[in-house]
Amino acid sequence: MISRAVELIKKSTEPVVFTGAGMSRESGMRTFRGEDGLWNEYSPEQLSSISGLRADPEIVWNWYKMRLMAGEGVVPHAGYRALTYLQRKKGKLPVITQNVDGLHRLAGQTDVLEIHGSMRTASCLNKCGYATELAIDALKNIPPLCPDCGAILRPDIVLFGEPLPHEIISRSYRLAEECDLMVVIGTSVQVWPAAGIPFAALDRGAVIIEINPVQTELPHSDNVISIRRKAGEVLPLLVGLKEKI
Ligand code: APR
Repeated sequence: MISRAVELIKKSTEPVVFTGAGMSRESGMRTFRGEDGLWNEYSPEQLSSISGLRADPEIVWNWYKMRLMAGEGVVPHAGYRALTYLQRKKGKLPVITQNVDGLHRLAGQTDVLEIHGSMRTASCLNKCGYATELAIDALKNIPPLCPDCGAILRPDIVLFGEPLPHEIISRSYRLAEECDLMVVIGTSVQVWPAAGIPFAALDRGAVIIEINPVQTELPHSDNVISIRRKAGEVLPLLVGLKEKI
């Protein structure tokens, strides 16, 4: 299984990476579903939706402040460094991520498509044009207000009930349809339209290498190699950075 995956990565001419919250688990970030998942404890409708932000901005901003604090000082683990190494070695490796933690960029990766946006910035909920870097010390007053028009600020992530950024999601699907290999890492493949990306690759005959300790919605097929290991453990091996585990 591993040696076949190593060969496929070596031979691939149009590889693409697709990641979810599990990619950041070994950097200490919690996932949303599965063991210790955030949604086992909190309500996504209340905390991660546009209606929830309008209904109770204080609760929602306290939630994002907690997430920002959890992300303080978090560093990309060996799996991230392996993807950066592979991107440089291949010369091109688009990285489509559902994550908003910015760790792919922090690991030095380029061509990162953040389809659910990013926690690094915030902007005016009334779209007056104000935007700012989002740092914890900017959150002394909760909810933060727009200095230009007084409206509430919002984190620049895609909230439930909102469309994904059109350009980014369209390019992500184009990459899925044109790739010969997609490495799918740390996602439960449950939240559409992002979850459709690996299926779009499969439909066009690409091979999927899935890295997830737990079985997901991806089908059992000759074109899906599911490696039930952790990303930080197995990625260095798959890209040739580590000889054995
Ligand atoms: N290595 C690889 N995979 C892991 C690891 C690990 N060390 N630890 C956990 N996982 C897997 C889990 O088994 C799970 O299948 O990561 C997956 C995380 O799934 P989710 O928590 O559902 O995260 P994700 O798929 O990214 O969710 C998609 O849902 O709530 C929204 O906007 C949020 O972007 C998120 C979207």
